[in-house]
Amino acid sequence: MNSEQSIVILTGAGISKESGLDTFRDAGGIWARVRVEDVATPEAFAADPVRVREFYNHRRARLTAANIEPNAAHHALARLEDDWPGEVLVVTQNIDDLHERAGSRNLLHMHGELLKARCQACGHVVGWRGDLSAGHVCEACGRTGGMRPDVVWFGEMPFEMERIYAALESCSLFLSIGTSGNVYPAAGFVQHVIARTRAPTVEMNLEPSEGASLFAQAIYGPATQTVPEYVDRVLAQGW
Ligand code: APR
Repeated sequence: MNSEQSIVILTGAGISKESGLDTFRDAGGIWARVRVEDVATPEAFAADPVRVREFYNHRRARLTAANIEPNAAHHALARLEDDWPGEVLVVTQNIDDLHERAGSRNLLHMHGELLKARCQACGHVVGWRGDLSAGHVCEACGRTGGMRPDVVWFGEMPFEMERIYAALESCSLFLSIGTSGNVYPAAGFVQHVIARTRAPTVEMNLEPSEGASLFAQAIYGPATQTVPEYVDRVLAQGW
């Protein structure tokens, strides 16, 4: 192992499941209870901003509850970043802050962050832990009524895509953890790595994802077991 070898890790809702946060497409997941079209598109927010803010207020209250903590998988990825001589980049689809709270620093939230709000009028982004309502005033431009969750809705462009593709094209190892491979562009990252590098690609999930056949290796099981074990092995002997 050497400092030239960089690792890119894509994570999805499955890595936060054992911390007590819901996934989207598992049985009983978020999209089994509410429709994407009603709460997770710009059109939904324009049509019924109260309902959309309430959907994220509920998830924000859950995330900031005392019993929601990073789990062993989040901590293992932070340890890998600390102990691996090369760069380790976590690209998460998750809008929770569990990677940060576990200690990950080289981290990109491609779908935004639940604990931030953005003014639709001026684009100013501010940390936000409580409920968001139409009455909140933007601290930058002073306008009211335009504060929205700083998350990426369906039909919007994910954040940091240039940095993500540059990292994928120069990585020596690509891991995909806890994602069903249903949503692009994240679901296409493995193909991007295959097309441009010789890096091994590893899927770590509870069950085969939509893109399972694309990965060179698959490790199935709960992330709190598979991820620490894998990180220990990489730190001890590489891949
Ligand atoms: N350990 C590992 N994997 C798990 C665990 C676990 N304990 N529990 C569930 N999983 C796996 C499931 O098998 C599933 O394949 O995590 C995956 C979660 O898939 P989704 O619910 O589709 O979540 P995700 O892939 O992150 O969704 C991507 O879709 O709705 C949008 O913006 C949303 O970021 C989200 C995106």
